[in-house]
Amino acid sequence: MMEFLATCAFGIEAILKREIQQLKFTVTRSSNGKVFFSGDIKTMMMANIHLRTAERIFMVLGEKKVLSYDQLFDFIKTLKLKPIVSEYGQYNIQAKSVKSKLFSPRDIQSIVNKALIENLKAAYKVSVFEESKEKYAFLLDLQKDQALFLLDTSGAALHKRGYRINQGEAPLKETLASALVQLSFFDASRTLYDPFCGAGTIVIEAAMIAKNIAPGLNRSFAFLHFPWIDKTVYQSVKKAAYKNIIMESSARLYASDIDPKLMRYAEENATEAGVEDIIDFQVADFKIREYGKDYGIIITNPPYGERLETTKDAEVLYKDFGLLMKKHPSYSYYVISSYPGVEGIFKQKADRTRVLFNGKIKTRYYQYYGPKPE
Ligand SMILES: C[S@@+](CC[C@H](N)C(=O)[O-])C[C@H]1O[C@@H](n2cnc3c(N)ncnc32)[C@H](O)[C@@H]1O
Repeated sequence: MMEFLATCAFGIEAILKREIQQLKFTVTRSSNGKVFFSGDIKTMMMANIHLRTAERIFMVLGEKKVLSYDQLFDFIKTLKLKPIVSEYGQYNIQAKSVKSKLFSPRDIQSIVNKALIENLKAAYKVSVFEESKEKYAFLLDLQKDQALFLLDTSGAALHKRGYRINQGEAPLKETLASALVQLSFFDASRTLYDPFCGAGTIVIEAAMIAKNIAPGLNRSFAFLHFPWIDKTVYQSVKKAAYKNIIMESSARLYASDIDPKLMRYAEENATEAGVEDIIDFQVADFKIREYGKDYGIIITNPPYGERLETTKDAEVLYKDFGLLMKKHPSYSYYVISSYPGVEGIFKQKADRTRVLFNGKIKTRYYQYYGPKPE
């Protein structure tokens, strides 16, 4: 049994935890932006391929309280790293320190590097290291003096699914878009709209959930370069994921945006993700587009004012959105925005509000639960 760490944006740990449990893995602990779980190498592969809200999957190589550089050196030098880390790798070490006695990432990095080389020299009884194409990216994460030594198994961050060939100026991260959908009442029986869809991230993520398409099927991972990986296990995990795709989904999703160029991007991205068959694309102002039958769900990311519009335009836009909410009282509304005073402008208090980070921008996710469908 090994321990793994899935990292995520602050505020979505509970969603990530639920996803890990749905894969039938055991969550061992969680804290800000981190969910730990246990399992084997297949677990690690599945986590990379299936988790929709994780940013990266790390293998936990060791953990210890360290208060001095000597203690840090000893911790890394005495870890059992063979056979996970081979003697022929290219080693990249990153360091992070929060509220800890050792606070200089540079110094931590350099000590870890020295200790790692000593460790591997002794373990493999070699004195010179040949570099090869096996890349190992390590992270020494120090929080309140507790050091975690981690091996990155993902490579490029997991929000990079591989389908977004084009994007507009203010795209949501795919992982955050998926969290927004998973925080809503969306399922294949409810019609979903995103009337400010931009490059289509929210509807594409929702459609991937509706069709049960694993987010990592279209990309590569760092673990594929580790020499001890059994590629047949990886192929079987992928094969099982392909088998579970729902080819004929009854879900219907509606994406629109006022910008024709972005609508084209959204369509191209959806095609790349294999979900264009269940999404309707339309160039339209959100005020005049058609909204269909009752109990629809609107999940959307309107302009924040900061990046795309003047403040006055944004105020009018949010007022108009409030009018739309009045017009369709059986709908549920989920709006992510950093624009101040959104509930006041809508003249409706949200049933729940969460603070979420869209990259570095602090946003709020306003959740208005409509009535239950009859
Ligand atoms: C924050 S962006 C959405 C980004 C999107 N979530 C993504 O991941 O690409 C806001 C979008 O609202 C669109 N927009 C602005 N005013 C609009 C209006 N009146 N009706 C419809 N779309 C509008 C912009 O073209 C822009 O694409």
